[in-house]
Formats: sequence, structure tokens, C-alpha cells
Amino acid sequence: MLDWSDTTATPKAPAFIPLPEAPADATGLGTIDRSGGRVSVDEKRMINCRADVNQLLPLKYKWAWEKYLAGCNNHWMPTEVSMQADIALWKSRDGLTEDERRAIKRNLGFFAASESLVANNIVLAIYRHLTNPECRQYLLRQAFEEAVHTHTFQYIVESLGLDEGELFNMYREVPSITDKAAWALKHTQHLDDPDFKTGTPENDQAFVRDLVAFYVIFEGMWFYTGFAQILSLGRRNKMVGIAEQYQYILRDESIHLNFGIDVINQIKIENPHLWTRQFQDEIRTMIREAAELEAAYGRDTMPRGFLGLNAALCETYMHFIANRRCAQLGLAPVFAETENPFPWMSEAMDLKKEKNFFETRVIEYQNGGALSWD
Ligand SMILES: [Fe+2]
Ligand SMILES: [Fe+2]
Repeated sequence: MLDWSDTTATPKAPAFIPLPEAPADATGLGTIDRSGGRVSVDEKRMINCRADVNQLLPLKYKWAWEKYLAGCNNHWMPTEVSMQADIALWKSRDGLTEDERRAIKRNLGFFAASESLVANNIVLAIYRHLTNPECRQYLLRQAFEEAVHTHTFQYIVESLGLDEGELFNMYREVPSITDKAAWALKHTQHLDDPDFKTGTPENDQAFVRDLVAFYVIFEGMWFYTGFAQILSLGRRNKMVGIAEQYQYILRDESIHLNFGIDVINQIKIENPHLWTRQFQDEIRTMIREAAELEAAYGRDTMPRGFLGLNAALCETYMHFIANRRCAQLGLAPVFAETENPFPWMSEAMDLKKEKNFFETRVIEYQNGGALSWD
């Protein structure tokens, strides 16, 4: 069975082979080199590759291909999840407290636009500069999954009869959400500049910074507190349809995160000159800042908290996750050692242990062939 936990193995170091000095065609859309020799594995690189990016085989990064296959095995659609119980609860007068409604709406509002931001970053910034066909194959799969996630929020809005403008515009109207989106976007803005090219240490570091901002922080930190909020309600039998959808999104996102971590670690192996002490400190500062932004969002989203969940617990969880992400990147922790305040989150990620959580749907779920829930 597929292990989609958020642990990741650092890719093995390849023998370093200097690149030929031929001009690169990073896009794969340039003039065809009619006399180009066949691609060998040793020529392939994560960034600044001189090998033809249109030739998937021979594979070099098997971990990228495996993640592509895992993503395909996990295919799901939001409309396959029943929303009846959620609709009844949302429309009931006393099924949810005002605090719970506020947290749910802010959570949906954060995710609704964030899925698009992540998708746009993959398609318009990352894809162009990641010069490896098996990684691009995964990016294409990931881009579709982000579309499925955005679809999920459309489906939720439609099912519950929510104000679509309020939800989808929240990333511009709610300062604690705007602050997070703006923070991440500043790392991608110059990458979609048509004149931006990797190939200098400065620009290669800018590319890595963008990978950290989106894969490690957006998808690997901020999304995780978002999952914890909704799954915590799901555990109390509230908004179980949305919680089930979030569990599928969490499964997808954990692979996105691990892909990003593997990409960054492989770039480090192939370009050790980029990973200076100063750059490592800069990445740790990014992770620390991101945790602070999340704490502010938690206070705004849950000013009083509710059963099993409050801003302080979410902040502690963020510290725990931040340290874990540092470890995955080979960095020193940014916070004092922290216990996971939501140990059930790892259970929610290990689907086998959650027999009674989302009891009906998944056993019947045919597309998710790699899922074994019993
Ligand atoms: Fe997503
Ligand atoms: Fe994602």
C-alpha cells in the first residue's frame, strides 16, 4: 500500500557529472536539434538541464515517477462525497455555534483561493524552470489535483448555499488571510517574469525560495492547520462531508509536500553551492515567519476557540510542523521541541486506523485503488 505519510526519504546523491556547455532549451518548445544524441540519465538535472526535456525515458528520478503514479491511483472527485448531513447541519439553527461557523467560513475562504494560488504558481512559475520531464509529469498531475481541490470549494459553496463572493474574495478582504497569500506571492512574482531565467546562483536561490514558500510553507504548513480545524469538527460528527473531502485533499497535499521536499533536496545535491549557511538561515527565517502568520490567522479565525480546538493549540501545532519541515530539509529546528497537540492528525493521515471516522464512502471508492481502509 502506498505510504502517503509526510515523511520523506532524501534522494540519493548521484555521481556528479559536469554539464556540457551547450545552450539550454528549458521549455522543450525550441528549435528541434536534429543531430542531438540520445539522452542519458547522467545528463538529466532538476534545474538548468541541457538534456532534451521532451524525453521522459530513461527515468532518472524514480521518486518523481512514483509520486505521479500514486497521484493517479488516488483519483477522486468532490461530487462523489454526499453533502446531505452538512447541508442539514449548516441550515439547522443550533447545530453549530457562531464560533464554529466563523472558523468554517474562514477556513473555506482561505483554501478556496489558496488552491488557485498554488495551481498558478505550479503552472506559470515552477513548471518552466524545473527542467526534468519526470518532475514535469508529476507537476501536470498535481496541477489537475489543484483543479479538483478548487472544484471542491465550488461544490461546497453550491451545496451549502454560501455567498460565493464572500468566500472566494476572502483572501483580499480578511487581512489575516491576505497577509499569508501576499507573503507567499512575493516569492513567486519575479519567477513568472518572462525575462527570469535560472542559471545564476542568485536566480537559482530565488527558485528554491519559491519552492519553499509554496511546497513547504503553503501546502506543508498552512494547509495542515486548515486540515486540523476541519478534521477536528469531523471527529465530533460535524460537517462530515467537508471533513471527508478534506481528508482526500490532505492525502493529495501530503504527496505534493513530499514532492516539493524531494525536489529541493535533489537541487541541493546537484547544486551544493546554493545551500550556504546564510541561505539556510534565510529559509529557517521564512519558516519562522510563516508560523507567526499562521498564529495570527488562528487568533483571527478562532478568537474564543471551541471544543478541542483553539488558537493556542493551532500555534503549538504549527511549531511542531515547522520543526518537522526543517528536519525534512536538513535544517536545524526553528522552535523549541514541541509535542504534537493533535496526535489524531497522524491517525487521520494513516487511513487504516480511521475505521470509524468516515465510515461509508471510502470502502466503496473504486478509483482510489491504492486505498485500503479496512
Ligand atoms: Fe491543493
Ligand atoms: Fe497542493
